[in-house]
Amino acid sequence: MPNITFSSPSYKDKTVYAVAGSHTESVLKIAKEHKIPIDFSCEDGQCGTCLVKVTSLDKKGRMAGPLTDKEREVLVSLGKVSREEMEQMSVDDLPPPWRLACQLIVRDEDLLVEY
Ligand code: FES
Repeated sequence: MPNITFSSPSYKDKTVYAVAGSHTESVLKIAKEHKIPIDFSCEDGQCGTCLVKVTSLDKKGRMAGPLTDKEREVLVSLGKVSREEMEQMSVDDLPPPWRLACQLIVRDEDLLVEY
């Protein structure tokens, strides 16, 4: 079961266990269940409000599930990742550290989520 550590400059770090069967739940949903105050608005990968920085705490370093098309577009439009970097990351199958919590599906790995 993955551990997700939520970290913010304004709040104490909190580590939660993503329960078995939660692999279809977004990081935002898990955060809300645990009353972790990540900002959000649309919950549909369109506004960018839920931007977080994700680091894998596993040695394998996969960094959660792949990006959705919506997530790619928002990250590029926010200037967090350039189009060229995004294309290279797709080729290398390596997601960027910046993700949208409402689109980010946890896999079986420990993550640090900074918000
Ligand atoms: S809440 Fe709008 S992109 Fe996640």
